[in-house]
Amino acid sequence: MRLIVVAAVAVVAVAVAVWALWPDHHGGHPPAGNRPSSGLSLSSTAGMPGEAVFNQKCAVCHGVQAVGSPQGPPLVHRYYEPGHHSDMAFLLAVRRGVRAHHWRFGNMPPVPGLSDTDVRAVIDYVRALQRANGIF
Ligand code: HEC
Repeated sequence: MRLIVVAAVAVVAVAVAVWALWPDHHGGHPPAGNRPSSGLSLSSTAGMPGEAVFNQKCAVCHGVQAVGSPQGPPLVHRYYEPGHHSDMAFLLAVRRGVRAHHWRFGNMPPVPGLSDTDVRAVIDYVRALQRANGIF
């Protein structure tokens, strides 16, 4: 009799453990943060032509994968979704710099040495990061 109780407790314990450790029983929405949440996976942005340019020219302030840094804001942010900051706003930011207005990081200086093709590639890369992070 005693053995049966112990066995039953063990079965329940195992069931609870399996349930608790099961990866996706929570279902629904992943927690906010850096998780891809709109179809495109974050890893699919790796190796895009704009990635190297971004890492060389923008990541020092905007962070790797545009998550932000002590020098500049994240571009993976609702402020910078296409409806708020069009691709033209990105081009102008690169060509003319940006006067600080949304944040307290100071002004962004113009970024020299990039062709229109480079900037286009960077924008495509940032848009892909935004999409992969569920910004739009
Ligand atoms: C020296 C640091 C620095 C570098 C390098 C830099 N940025 Fe920025 N950038 C900033 C800061 C700071 C802001 C935020 C200004 C504000 O307060 O709104 C900003 C804002 C922006 C914005 C928003 C523009 C707007 O109209 O509000 C875009 C787009 C942007 N950066 C793109 C880029 C891209 C693309 C690169 C690389 C080619 C880059 N930045 C390189 C510091 C930098």
